[in-house]
Amino acid sequence: MLLLTGANGKTGREVLKALVAKGETVRAFIRQESQWPDLQALGASEYAVGDMADGPSIDSAMEGCQKVVHIGPPMHPDEKAMTQCFVELAKKHQIEHFIYYSVMHPLRRDVRHHSLKLDAEEVLIESMLPYTIVQPIRYMQHLLPIWNTVVETGVHAMPFNTQVKFNVVDLKDLAEATAIIATTPGHLYATYEFAGPESLSQQDMAEIISDVIGRPVSAQAVTLEQVADKARARGFNEDRVKQMQIMNKHYDECGFLGNPNVLSMVLGRSPTRFRAFVERLNR
Ligand SMILES: NC(=O)c1ccc[n+]([C@@H]2O[C@H](COP(=O)([O-])OP(=O)(O)OC[C@H]3O[C@@H](n4cnc5c(N)ncnc54)[C@H](OP(=O)(O)O)[C@@H]3O)[C@@H](O)[C@H]2O)c1
Repeated sequence: MLLLTGANGKTGREVLKALVAKGETVRAFIRQESQWPDLQALGASEYAVGDMADGPSIDSAMEGCQKVVHIGPPMHPDEKAMTQCFVELAKKHQIEHFIYYSVMHPLRRDVRHHSLKLDAEEVLIESMLPYTIVQPIRYMQHLLPIWNTVVETGVHAMPFNTQVKFNVVDLKDLAEATAIIATTPGHLYATYEFAGPESLSQQDMAEIISDVIGRPVSAQAVTLEQVADKARARGFNEDRVKQMQIMNKHYDECGFLGNPNVLSMVLGRSPTRFRAFVERLNR
């Protein structure tokens, strides 16, 4: 049995589907019982209701599990403490493989949620648990919430300048790679950087989208304040809004570049290119 945290989230649902496709038996760690039917439909075998800030609920969720895939909530100020709690309880339950879903370049000390994941990685490595750490770069799926607008208006807008480059990666590839790590031998004590195969600016991405949909698309940088207003409208708290601004400012200055070799090795194939991702969206 594998305990999957963050199971109801964007990443968790894709990882759940990929684990089930590889034949893994999954217990989904969720916050509310009402979330269970959806996850059962995706193939989860069991569920445990709990909170990542509540040790006793994690303790009982881990009962009878041999593996954990821990996906923490995005930009959470307690990422280190939460992971620490999972790691301590994983030792108690003699978990045979603890897979921690981190982020690429956790060493970016000026971006708090990267830095907290580095602290969490340190806790895991020092625990002596059999672990694998996956470090994904920015997802291609950030296009999803704006896809209809891009198609309707011909404007591809992101909160950083249009020339800075990213090796965006397909979340489906990340999920498949995580499932391979969880279900096949040979991945213990590895830290894997997972990035997409091309370094693309928003301008490059706009050109690819334009080509696929057969209409002009231009890239546009939106201001950090516009993004903050949208985030507040979605109900994000001020801490999350601030962390998003720090991240986007950092992207504006440095982009997010990485190398696809490790992801290719784990998948046994080349990672998905941005054009193929857009063609999938446009179907
Ligand atoms: N997006 C990217 O480009 C990217 C890149 C690299 C790494 N990551 C990492 O991927 C991880 C997942 O991101 P995501 O976008 O998939 O997040 P998400 O869609 O917001 O999902 C987060 C999940 O965690 C659950 N959750 C939140 N707080 C919880 C708590 N206190 N106790 C129990 N469950 C809790 C949420 O439950 P509810 O469903 O009840 O709300 C939700 O199901 C993050 O750690 C992020 O840093 C993301």
